[in-house]
Amino acid sequence: MDRTTITLHSAYQIGEVDPRVFGGFLEHIGRAVYEGVYDPRSAHADEAGFRTDVLNAMRRLRMTAMRYPGGNFASGYHWMDGIGPREARPTVRELAWQSLESNAFGTDEYIALCRKMSWTPMITVNLGTGTPEEARNWLEYCNAPAGSKYADMRVANGNPDPYAVKLWCLGNEMDGPWQLGHVPASDYAIRAQQAAKMMKDLDRNVELVLCGSCTTGLPSYMAWDQEVLDYVGDLADYISLHRYVGNRTDDTADYLAVTASIDRQIEEMDAACRFIQAKHRSKKRAYLCFDEWNVWYKSSAMDGEGKHAPHLIEEIYNLEDALVVAGFLNSFIRHADVVKIANIAQIVNVIAPLMTRGDELLIQPTFYPFEMMAQRGAGVALQTIVDGPRYEGATNGDVPVIDASAILNGDILHIFVANRSLSESAEVLVAPADRTIVGVGAAELLAGPGAKVANSFDQPDLVVSRPFTGARLVDEGALMTLPPLSFVALSLQLKA
Ligand code: AHR
Repeated sequence: MDRTTITLHSAYQIGEVDPRVFGGFLEHIGRAVYEGVYDPRSAHADEAGFRTDVLNAMRRLRMTAMRYPGGNFASGYHWMDGIGPREARPTVRELAWQSLESNAFGTDEYIALCRKMSWTPMITVNLGTGTPEEARNWLEYCNAPAGSKYADMRVANGNPDPYAVKLWCLGNEMDGPWQLGHVPASDYAIRAQQAAKMMKDLDRNVELVLCGSCTTGLPSYMAWDQEVLDYVGDLADYISLHRYVGNRTDDTADYLAVTASIDRQIEEMDAACRFIQAKHRSKKRAYLCFDEWNVWYKSSAMDGEGKHAPHLIEEIYNLEDALVVAGFLNSFIRHADVVKIANIAQIVNVIAPLMTRGDELLIQPTFYPFEMMAQRGAGVALQTIVDGPRYEGATNGDVPVIDASAILNGDILHIFVANRSLSESAEVLVAPADRTIVGVGAAELLAGPGAKVANSFDQPDLVVSRPFTGARLVDEGALMTLPPLSFVALSLQLKA
């Protein structure tokens, strides 16, 4: 294969990478909360019942914003069921996942976990079966100082200081017919505006995320977004995007080319936001909150059959899935000017990079690109001009074989490159136009013995990141060779 050259210039900046693009998502679904982050019966449980093995692995991912409690679950959730003395909390039949919810883990446990992990809390209110006023009351419980009804409940539950939760999602996937309380865009817009008005009146520091199109596949795609953005106007700080992808036709080349479609989805939503800003002649625009994204297509177990913590959508990930996860993150970095928040869905057991089995913990291949990129996530995204071989994905169209993004942090340049070739190694030259590379710093490679290879409890290390020593300095920059189906994160020292 011909060499690929990635040309960059430190003046050609896309924007500061918002740390919140390395966010996660913790929903009350399956074994995500119970047997995931919270399991008082586990040998790994700390005094609060949190699983330390899971949390220690999560720390490596340096996650920022952590969305909670759903997802579809949020649209039937009444937050007051999850506060107060545990023995008095009701067990309820929840309908999103046909499961039993014990409410042993609720708002106070979530905030305690966020504090323990240094996560930024991000709460989704119930605008399905809940009311705008219930949402406003939840905000008062979390953020108001002592001295009013709901704030005093928090104090009575042992938490005198306000939680200062800044990020709030105005419902979840309200455009989806599967959603509890789904309504047409015009109805949702009214609910969201009412909630937003009360919430901003109560706490003017909150930032609100409007429900945008939850898939590009619904007939209402973009029309929904235009209508709700138009109605809610400047009360919306962000609009949400969701995307789950998969290799449904067993065409790896096309699957890996899905980045073209993710780029397009971001650009289309950005266009909707700019259109509404122009229409309103407003100084303010809504930014993009990609608050659910991942690979999800193999597991369809979504009926909890009335059980507590059932095994639901426990997807097993392989190398090609990990390369797609790298592709999502590359796309967010390439759009750092507009994508301000993104949450991989989800964090443990349910479509997640981590999986528990009893007291054991498995790290899935999708863990590694997130770790490799999050650890290098601070800085300014640079434009990457990728000049090299290309191919045509059957449905996703024309893409470069090398998928890339770059972050500049002072005199350190971080490069993220995936080789999408199924069979050929790729020679890649990183060529900063205005700076000199003086050293190759830390670098890791994610590769494996085949696209479909996954880790298992018996063989946990088949697809893991390893130190990469294949980059060297040449006159024009840094040169490296990537094996087929691989991903490299590389830090380069630039001359001051
Ligand atoms: O992440 C699993 C589910 O996917 C979420 O609950 C929902 O919002 C989406 O459809």
